Amino acid sequence: MFDFDFYYKDLIDILRKDIKDDIKLAIVLGSGLGKFPETINIIKTYDGDTLPNYPRSTVEGHSGKLIIGEINGKKCLVFQGRFHFYEGYKLYETIIPSIITKSLGIPYLLLTNAAGGVNLSFEPGDLMLCTSFIGINIKNEIDEVMRVATPDERNIFLKTPDPDFNDIIIWSALEEKVHLKEGVYWYNKGPTYETPAEIRMVDKFGASAVGMSTVAEAYWASANGVKVSCISCITNYAAGLSPHKLSHEDVTIAATLVENKFNRLVRRIVDYF
Ligand code: HPA
Repeated sequence: MFDFDFYYKDLIDILRKDIKDDIKLAIVLGSGLGKFPETINIIKTYDGDTLPNYPRSTVEGHSGKLIIGEINGKKCLVFQGRFHFYEGYKLYETIIPSIITKSLGIPYLLLTNAAGGVNLSFEPGDLMLCTSFIGINIKNEIDEVMRVATPDERNIFLKTPDPDFNDIIIWSALEEKVHLKEGVYWYNKGPTYETPAEIRMVDKFGASAVGMSTVAEAYWASANGVKVSCISCITNYAAGLSPHKLSHEDVTIAATLVENKFNRLVRRIVDYF
């Protein structure tokens, strides 16, 4: 088993100097959603490049910064961008936000991402609260980084995402008058998008949206006692559901269109903690 505590010790020691138990919520900002920190008071920014063993992001729109921010006296730790398996990282590198959140004793982790809409009632620009994840594409790799030791622990995903945390998000959306769709997020390893036939398959299997991130972060955090929730920004119709060819640029442009309602919603969520 990979020794996370040893590998990330220096990194955690640095962050621990600034992060005390007054931070209850960490947030991972997905593709195109990285402007949220511009709407809050910034207390401190870490450049990922300066942190020991912190991975370097290679994807456009993922700055790799860590930000301590504040709204109305409520602090949060924001990961501006994330690391994907398809970038060639090891799984323990892609789940670094979850490891930091857990190691610093932050109880809640909000994951956000860009996703393709599979459900025909979803449109680009919709926000979807994840009610469950399908991670069968990554189960072997995830099992390698899990610390599941006893049969009792095999039920760890019954509360992934955490139902009470999801209720907080539903309330926040109601208060902000942001319409939230709900659905199941399917993990595709990427970096290629799906074929139309794969999308028809995942639809039959119960997926509402597809993306290339989040599930390993959610599973690991949840298995390690962090309460997790996830908001997907539907940036495009999934492959075959529209005549257009998909590109990462289209995904980031569509995410920009939801910036305002996304930022309002996340600000309101921070205020709950
Ligand atoms: N498929 C996979 N990942 C994605 C998509 C998609 O259609 N849109 C944004 N991320």
